[in-house]
Amino acid sequence: MGKVTIVGAGNVGATCANVLAHKNITNEIILLDIQGDLARGKALDTWQQASIDEYSTYVKGTEDYQETANSDIVVITAGIPRKPGMSRDDLISTNAKIVKSVTQSILEHSESPIIIVVSNPLDVMSFAAYKTSGLPSSKVFGMAGILDTARYRAFLATEIGISPRDIQATLLGGHGDTMVPLPRFTTVSGIPISDFIDDEALNKIVQRTKVGGGELVKLMGTSAWYAPGAAAAQMVETILKNENRIFPCCAYLSGEYGLDDIYLGVPVKLGKNGIEKIIELKLDDSELKLLHDSADHVKEVINTYKKMDLG
Ligand code: NAI
Ligand code: 2OP
Repeated sequence: MGKVTIVGAGNVGATCANVLAHKNITNEIILLDIQGDLARGKALDTWQQASIDEYSTYVKGTEDYQETANSDIVVITAGIPRKPGMSRDDLISTNAKIVKSVTQSILEHSESPIIIVVSNPLDVMSFAAYKTSGLPSSKVFGMAGILDTARYRAFLATEIGISPRDIQATLLGGHGDTMVPLPRFTTVSGIPISDFIDDEALNKIVQRTKVGGGELVKLMGTSAWYAPGAAAAQMVETILKNENRIFPCCAYLSGEYGLDDIYLGVPVKLGKNGIEKIIELKLDDSELKLLHDSADHVKEVINTYKKMDLG
């Protein structure tokens, strides 16, 4: 079974470790944080849950990168979350330095891990981890689309009165208010979503999804963690089990959708090597325009990152 490291033992990282431990698919998870005792405490708490919930995965908390040696998969959740009134992009000055230094430290001890970035601003932090690591882009990608579609599916499920499990959906674009949920690619067990909901109600749900992260920040004073942690854990599970599942993930594009040298949400096939394939949907003109508008926004934030000149 593969070795998994999660960097950042805050809300999202600790949740990811806990959810992953429950899946019982790896012997040990390393949970690393600059606050070593926080990581040790959350790891111990998760290990003490094992006999109750019947899993064997040991979670080890640490601040020492030597413990991460030979990781197969690393999830980066280190960094600050946003507070009410902040956008994800406002986090760049702090989180870019953190993501860069975490990536460097990881690679001192693991030669060629798969890196799943969670820290925000997500698309740009994925770009930063990729450029810092020198790894192939198939091994460096970000978690956002599973979360954003999960929110979309939850809102639809409530509105229609069915289980979210039976709603299939995909989504494109940046992990921000410009994201592009795709009603044309949304079904209920294969039946078009338009058979269940009228355009006006569907459009309201699309708009609510786009600001879904902000809705939770307003409610809690910090950003969400249960669904984000579970979404990252699902990506790890898919890779460890080589399931070749299709999920929207934040991937490096080199020509797909007419976009180049940018990280953006697109459907991908996830398997043991990371991104096995980027799936290019046949978009209509309005969907393509929304995707390119979103890409323009992400490019602006990538330019801010480049101007930071972190070397
Ligand atoms: P948090 O504040 O609860 O945890 C962050 C942890 O990172 C803290 O424990 C902190 O000590 C640690 N940390 C900071 N610098 C570090 C370093 N250099 N090395 C190791 N650990 C370090 O924050 P939370 O809620 O867990 O969010 C983490 C990040 O994930 C934020 O940037 C947030 O915006 C992002 N996020 C992204 C989502 C997505 O869909 N991609 C969803 C939810 C959150
Ligand atoms: C979220 O969407 C803040 O990116 C985080 O909840």
